[in-house]
Amino acid sequence: HHNCFSTSAPTQNAINNITVFGSGLMGAGITQVAAQNGYKVTMVDLDEQYLQKGHDIINASLKRVGKKLYIDDEAKQKELIDSTFANITTSTDSSKSVEAADLVVEAIVENLETKQKLFSTLDKAAPGHTIFTSNTSSLPISDIAQATTRPEKFAGLHFFNPVPQMKLVEVVRTDKTSQETFDTLVEITKKLKKEPVACKDTPGFIVNRLLVPYLLEAMRLVERGEANPQDVDTAMKLGAGMPMGPFELGDFVGLDTLKFIVDGWRKGGKIDANLVEPVKILDELVAAGHLGKKSGKGFKSY
Ligand code: NAI
Repeated sequence: HHNCFSTSAPTQNAINNITVFGSGLMGAGITQVAAQNGYKVTMVDLDEQYLQKGHDIINASLKRVGKKLYIDDEAKQKELIDSTFANITTSTDSSKSVEAADLVVEAIVENLETKQKLFSTLDKAAPGHTIFTSNTSSLPISDIAQATTRPEKFAGLHFFNPVPQMKLVEVVRTDKTSQETFDTLVEITKKLKKEPVACKDTPGFIVNRLLVPYLLEAMRLVERGEANPQDVDTAMKLGAGMPMGPFELGDFVGLDTLKFIVDGWRKGGKIDANLVEPVKILDELVAAGHLGKKSGKGFKSY
């Protein structure tokens, strides 16, 4: 029989099982979205206490989503929570948790050595077809991939906080990422009901590469005494259509996170030095423990 639909190769990269490393803010969000969209997800962290935190983050988020989707239908709200958690298992055993994985998404602490160590372990434990991805915001994907023997199956999969709400995923390819791996990740992103964009493995990819220098320049503008933070926020919201002003956004992202990214880029030397010059008010706020929304105070008080 001649079948005119059989021209494309069989899908070698069918993704069924996803293993997410880290059950913090990002890992929990990625786990939730994958599980909500029908994937079997294993969420991994160092111990049960962290996994419980991840579980609580997902539970709280699903409650909010459920109330929005099914306003007066408590049965449906409960069903959303139950059906999502039915797709999630948790583990503290890194090697075991990737034995049946088709895709790994790493969202652990932002430390190169820690990530390399994890991937070196996973490289030995995971099947050959398993695609490895990192959700890192500030580390070069190729540096992390170096710890494995599968650079062609390694890419960045960069989600945004809060994951259930934010529609974008940056799919980051290194010089060694294969076309097949890239295509599979674009497909997955769409199945998670997110919008993929393609980007090379450069500092900040697209969003942070543009956003971080902008946030720093807003701080410098205030340091120079040209305007106050409230007026800068108002200006960018009403004059440039931004949903948050730069100071609100900095506080939301976390001033320590912002400083960490800027310091890392400066040391990395791959970005124009003027763009990542230290900013005094940022360094002072972080040193004082005023990290933004999460600590109750940053540029504004919460
Ligand atoms: P987080 O601190 O909330 O969570 C990290 C989790 O990883 C913790 O629960 C920790 O116990 C766990 N962990 C550490 N080492 C581990 C290991 N070896 N195996 C398993 N679990 C381990 O951090 P967050 O904010 O979720 O960030 C995670 C990653 O996502 C970082 O690489 C960060 O750059 C990236 N990212 C963060 C965004 C944000 O807005 N917070 C946005 C986009 C990316």
